[in-house]
Amino acid sequence: MASDLPPLRIDLGERSYPIVFSGSFDLLADAARPCVAGRACAVVTNEAVGGLYGDAVCAALEAAGGRAQRFLLPDGEERKNLRTLECLLEGFARAGMSRTAVVVALGGGVVGDIAGFAAAAYMRGVDCIQVPTTLLAQVDSSVGGKTGVNLAAGKNLAGAFHQPRLVFINWNTLATLPPREARAGYAEVIKYGIIADAPLFEQLERETPGIIAALCATPARVPAALGAIIRRCCAIKADVVGRDEREGGLRAILNYGHTFAHAVEALTAYGEYVHGEAVAIGMHAAARLAAGLGLCDAALVARQARLLEAAGLPTAFPALEFDAVLAAFGRDKKSRGATLRFVLPRRIGAVEIIENTDMTALRAAIAPGGGSMHQRARR
Ligand code: NAD
Ligand code: GLY
Repeated sequence: MASDLPPLRIDLGERSYPIVFSGSFDLLADAARPCVAGRACAVVTNEAVGGLYGDAVCAALEAAGGRAQRFLLPDGEERKNLRTLECLLEGFARAGMSRTAVVVALGGGVVGDIAGFAAAAYMRGVDCIQVPTTLLAQVDSSVGGKTGVNLAAGKNLAGAFHQPRLVFINWNTLATLPPREARAGYAEVIKYGIIADAPLFEQLERETPGIIAALCATPARVPAALGAIIRRCCAIKADVVGRDEREGGLRAILNYGHTFAHAVEALTAYGEYVHGEAVAIGMHAAARLAAGLGLCDAALVARQARLLEAAGLPTAFPALEFDAVLAAFGRDKKSRGATLRFVLPRRIGAVEIIENTDMTALRAAIAPGGGSMHQRARR
């Protein structure tokens, strides 16, 4: 399959699929043809992303022999809910989409998660293609088949595993990303260095100031190195998902920092931080906890904090009641009854899943301060 960088394959038997990497949408028609020829394509996007890339994506699907029709979702995490999902599914039905329809998710993680879940549910499951347009979605949410929406009771509490047939990554879509979203996605890039790839982490230590400056410039530029970095992150995710699709164990390492992040997001009513910023705060707390428990040295905490701060990300844990944070941990999907589970670093490039922990060390790890603030009021 043509790809500007070598394509990757997620190995899941009959549910295996390619990830294609490109600097444009020119290769999308060829990549999508096996899935879409002769079929209706429901292109699910939002007004902003659809306005920028909808025409190019629909033209590629038509060139591949598909019949493209757009479905617009409202923008924002607060609309990632069952009501939005229901409207989308009703829209598919009104448009006469059949079981052979293909859902094409064009957007960030919010669009990808809702559209992916709609593909899992519509007529008990139709095919899906992910075309991610945020850095976070390109390195994480579009790959691996987790889909879903939020419930009032918590984030991503309703969903399904539904692997796409194809992930098509055009890294040049990142040139239009708001700077805050570019930085937030970068937290997940740094995550891969910590959990699995010390050389990637070292490369990020060298290159982050230049990459972030280019992504946040006006007009923004997508540095040449970023495509290969995105591919490296996807390769790590592909390996983990190929070995543990349904998160029986290993896949939990992808949630490094996320137990803390989800608590921070929930306790600040999803209004203070975007997801990647909360992940940066969560990774710093996880590293402080690991150092407090003697699992890693203080130098790791400092190196990770320097890199997060070089990307313009916050690291300071907000002032929250310890008991409220503990209760939020208990609501996390990763917890098992009263057992708390944390993904903690041993060294750069290696993490471990630790169950329960010393409450004194946990309290110290999330003590307010101990990092940089950077956060701004959301949107
Ligand atoms: P997002 O989807 O809300 O996108 C951020 C903003 O950028 C939105 O306003 C969007 O319209 C805009 N946008 C997207 N692409 C753009 C582009 N190229 N140019 C201009 N604007 C653009 O946020 P996100 O960070 O991509 O995704 C966060 C979501 O992903 C959360 O709901 C999170 O739970 C989910 N997630 C899912 C997984 C998974 O495995 N399924 C993993 C991580 C995160
Ligand atoms: N984003 C974590 C996972 O896909 O498992």
